[in-house]
Amino acid sequence: MLRLYRSLLRPCTGKVLYCSAQHTSATYLQSFILHNTEVVTEHLTPEIELLLLTPRCKFWHLRPEHWPYGDPYWAIYWPGGQALARYLLDNPDIVRRRRILDLGSGCGAASIAAKMKGASYVVANDIDPVAGAAFGLNCQLNRIDPLPFHPENVIGEDTGCWDLIVLGDMFYDEQLADSLHRWLRHCMVQHGTTVLIGDPGRGHFMTHPIQKQLRKIAEYNLPESSKQENYGLTTSAVWRYEPGCS
Ligand SMILES: C[S@@+](CC[C@H](N)C(=O)[O-])C[C@H]1O[C@@H](n2cnc3c(N)ncnc32)[C@H](O)[C@@H]1O
Repeated sequence: MLRLYRSLLRPCTGKVLYCSAQHTSATYLQSFILHNTEVVTEHLTPEIELLLLTPRCKFWHLRPEHWPYGDPYWAIYWPGGQALARYLLDNPDIVRRRRILDLGSGCGAASIAAKMKGASYVVANDIDPVAGAAFGLNCQLNRIDPLPFHPENVIGEDTGCWDLIVLGDMFYDEQLADSLHRWLRHCMVQHGTTVLIGDPGRGHFMTHPIQKQLRKIAEYNLPESSKQENYGLTTSAVWRYEPGCS
């Protein structure tokens, strides 16, 4: 899985490879996740426990083709998501009594942080249904009621009025960054939505035209384990999208 982890650091292919329907039932998925991950608190939000892949898990050491599902992005707590969730925990006013969409939720830490700090409604959205199963387990682990999970691609859709949209480490691919940029601008203009982006300064993010409309509002030193796993990244930041302020 170390090899799989390394391959995940390259741009997402969106590849989803599933075995039989029996192996995608919620019960089977949850059992698979429980057996093949471990609870981790060594990250920027130790008050949130997360089931993640670590060097102590069997699949970490196996070749990626042994993994029976699509690329397990949900099994890693990405530096952008860590900064974002830390920011939400430290700034509860931004989430309290708000309606929040966590786009590309992965393990669901940002959603959990928002709920812990008093958000009125949180939806985690990820195109990988296995992320939904992991998110459900992570909600349980942190003693919060199960939160809604939406498995469809909503980028480009009018999803109604959100007070806040949060995105952790979602600008890893140029095409995805372009479509997110267009859609986030629409959400802001149409609904006055606040947008927060967590990112450790990846190339596609730092060179994207959206940069002209972002304001960095927080920056955190990454824990040692995240630095080692992320090719020498040392910090991760949160940016607020402010179209019109370029
Ligand atoms: C790099 S991971 C980040 C996960 C999490 N936000 C974090 O920071 O730990 C990107 C996630 O986005 C999801 N994703 C990719 N394209 C998506 C789309 N169009 N809509 C929703 N989720 C998407 C992937 O399945 C993956 O879980």
